[in-house]
Amino acid sequence: IAPDADWRDEVLELARERDAVILAHNYQLPEIQDIAHHTGDSLALSRIAAASDASTIVFCGVHFMAETAKILAPHKTVLIPDERAGCSLADSITGEQLRAWKAEHPGAVVVSYVNTTAEVKAETDICCTSSNAVDVVASIPADREVLFLPDQFLGAHVKRETGRDNLRIWAGECHVHAGINGPELAERAAANPDADLFIHPECGCATSALYLAGEGTVPADKVKILSTGDMITAARLTSAKSVLVATEVGMLHQLRRAAPEIDFRAVNDRASCRYMKMITPAALLRSLRENRDEVHVDLETARRAQGAVQRMIEIGQ
Ligand code: 13P
Ligand code: SF4
Repeated sequence: IAPDADWRDEVLELARERDAVILAHNYQLPEIQDIAHHTGDSLALSRIAAASDASTIVFCGVHFMAETAKILAPHKTVLIPDERAGCSLADSITGEQLRAWKAEHPGAVVVSYVNTTAEVKAETDICCTSSNAVDVVASIPADREVLFLPDQFLGAHVKRETGRDNLRIWAGECHVHAGINGPELAERAAANPDADLFIHPECGCATSALYLAGEGTVPADKVKILSTGDMITAARLTSAKSVLVATEVGMLHQLRRAAPEIDFRAVNDRASCRYMKMITPAALLRSLRENRDEVHVDLETARRAQGAVQRMIEIGQ
């Protein structure tokens, strides 16, 4: 189906008829962000999914996000407009690999980024997102060993911020964020000396940005390591006239809406997540017309994962 000019009216009408709430992550196509009832980062959308009165949640994002909504609201129908919308980071550790890692470190507390499958969450003590990862790890007694997974760059950020030596980090990465590299950032920062740098902690270049700040190439107060939701808050607060943004390019849409007077530029304008972009207007329309693709998490896995996800939405409120 190709959506015609009225696709927006039909989407909103079908959502009303089906008692559905449409949630869109900050990396979605601009037209999907604009039609959604709520946009936000992973943590904000999880909280909205858990608190919503709607009987159906249409999750415009990637599969692990829709699965997390289903774990938090098992009695609701959760739809994702295209179930092929996966995540290279979530694919970087399996349940079996995590069980083997835990067996090597008995007694360690397992902290999993929300970018993981339900099976991995079922083996986890506390989940986190990029906006509360530091708070989650800081809530664990200092003498307990922590296994942090799967993102090595977010893990390095948490280790720096908490100063914990007993934090072990899985070597996973997101192919989009890992591709935003340090030399590219250094070059862009040198060409825009007055710009703020908004950097997602999944980026391989976060360490380089802190290095540049450390050696004085970039003023330290200009380097901000932020989740996508926190970037929007920072955009409203900064006095900078231009901002270099190191994350998936879909983010620029919400930033420009939040602060139209600021010149936002991507550090790498090829940093586009093909999974996020699978959620097109046609896919959203089909989802509401045909009740597809429904997200299922088997009851035992959901029961085992629920505590970890519930702790995630409670920490850093
Ligand atoms: P946040 O929106 O929580 O910052 O996560 C970004 C992300 O990588 C989602 O894929
Ligand atoms: Fe996964 Fe990276 Fe895409 Fe986010 S941007 S959904 S972490 S592949």
